Formats: sequence, structure tokens, C-alpha cells
Amino acid sequence: MKKVDLLLFGATRNTGLSIACMAVGKGEAVAVMARKESDVSALKRLGVTVVHGDAFDIQDCRRTLNDIRPRRVVSLMGGKNAQGRRVCGEGNINVICALEESDSIERCLLVTSMGCGEQYEALSDHVKKFLGEALRAKTEAENYLKKSGLPWTIVRPGGLSDEPASGNFCLLDGADRSRKGYVSRGDVAAAVLRVLDDPVWLYRAVTVQCDKDVEDAIHA
Ligand SMILES: NC(=O)c1ccc[n+]([C@@H]2O[C@H](COP(=O)([O-])OP(=O)(O)OC[C@H]3O[C@@H](n4cnc5c(N)ncnc54)[C@H](OP(=O)(O)O)[C@@H]3O)[C@@H](O)[C@H]2O)c1
Repeated sequence: MKKVDLLLFGATRNTGLSIACMAVGKGEAVAVMARKESDVSALKRLGVTVVHGDAFDIQDCRRTLNDIRPRRVVSLMGGKNAQGRRVCGEGNINVICALEESDSIERCLLVTSMGCGEQYEALSDHVKKFLGEALRAKTEAENYLKKSGLPWTIVRPGGLSDEPASGNFCLLDGADRSRKGYVSRGDVAAAVLRVLDDPVWLYRAVTVQCDKDVEDAIHA
């Protein structure tokens, strides 16, 4: 097998699928770990290597890393299963644990969310009520990654939309209330690939928001 440049967890659809598409477009060899019941037809059409595995099972994560031996890893897994277990916490921690035991990699990038980590306390009670559980699970994975000894970057996007990518995203050290809170999945995918190989973003958590539209800025 050609050496795999990028292994993705959570790329059957949405932002992860956009990253796969862009990376393949750049000539990279891409692999994805996906559950066996997932629809991987779009990934197959792209020529991506699909390994079956469930991130709740650490053995699946270990086996995937052993088989693929990637140069870089990006995880975007989100959501919770029927038993209420959150893959963005538990699943991501399994991936990080398995990575700690495997060959060294150039970068491990974890996509979480604006509002995680040190940003949590500044959130309104309303946001904490509706998103708190997910944000705390993602923060747990962030903290695990920071302590892991892996070469890490964390990407915290604002609310995701399916608007076309604008290229108008910005990379910030913290949340900025003067900018839009929403960002398109296509822009987040581009932002992930922008920071993935950039040493500037190593050991940093980057918040991704959208710049104001020119129109908005004129009327501000
Ligand atoms: N929605 C928002 O506004 C928002 C805002 C900020 C950050 N985020 C976060 O950004 C990330 C990307 O979001 P998105 O909406 O583009 O993607 P998404 O639709 O949430 O995709 C989640 C991915 O995780 C995979 N997954 C779930 N459980 C898994 C498991 N046990 N093992 C392996 N894979 C599993 C899913 O695969 P299947 O096809 O098998 O389900 C899917 O590929 C997520 O972590 C999300 O929470 C979302």
C-alpha cells in the first residue's frame, strides 16, 4: 500500500468528507476509519482507503493505526450513541490512546468546537444548557490530547453551516464576538488543511470563525 499521508476519523460526511476530498485533490493518499454500517460510497468514489472500525472500541483504533501507519491524523468525530456515550469524548480519547502506543506521527489534529476549554466559562447559561454536555466531552478529549506528548493542534470551529465555502475564514487564538459565529463546513475543511502542516499552529488551539462580509463591515 502507498504510504498514507492522512488518516481521518469521522469523515463519512460533512466536514470530514470535505477534508478527504480536498486532500485527495492535492494528491495525498487518504484513509478513513468508519463504522461498518456507515455509508462510505462517497469515500470509495474518491479512492480513499476505508478501514472498518468503531471508535468506541480501542482495539479497532489500534488495528487501524497498525494497518495504515499514517503520517498525520485528523479526528472530527461527533455525536452520541443510543446509550448516550459521546464519541467526541470517549471515541477521541481512544484514538489518542492508540496513537500514543503506535509509530510517531507528524501531527494529530482534533476538531472540537468554539466554547471548549478555557472558552467554556464565558458562555451564556443558555448555551451551557443546550451544548454543555457535548462541549465538556470535547474538552475532555482536548485535555487528554494536550497531555499526550503527541504533536497536536486543536481546531475549534464556530457553528457549522452548509453554505458554500467562502475562503473568508479566520484563524484566531480565541473566540471573537465581533465576527460571525457561524462558519461553513467547507471553510473549516480548508482551515484544517491550512493549519495541519504549519508549525505555527503546533501545540495551539485555533478558533475558526468567518470574517465579516464586506457588506457587514460597511454597515458596522
Ligand atoms: N454542528 C455544529 O454546529 C458544530 C459546531 C462546532 C463543532 N462541531 C463538531 O465538528 C465536527 C464535525 O461536524 P460535522 O457536522 O461536519 O460532522 P458530523 O456529521 O457530526 O460527522 C460525525 C462523524 O463522526 C463519525 N462517527 C460517529 N460515531 C462514530 C464511531 N463510534 N466510530 C467512528 N466514527 C464515528 C460519523 O460516522 P457515521 O457516518 O458512522 O455516523 C461521522 O463521520 C463534529 O465533531 C461536531 O461535533 C459541530
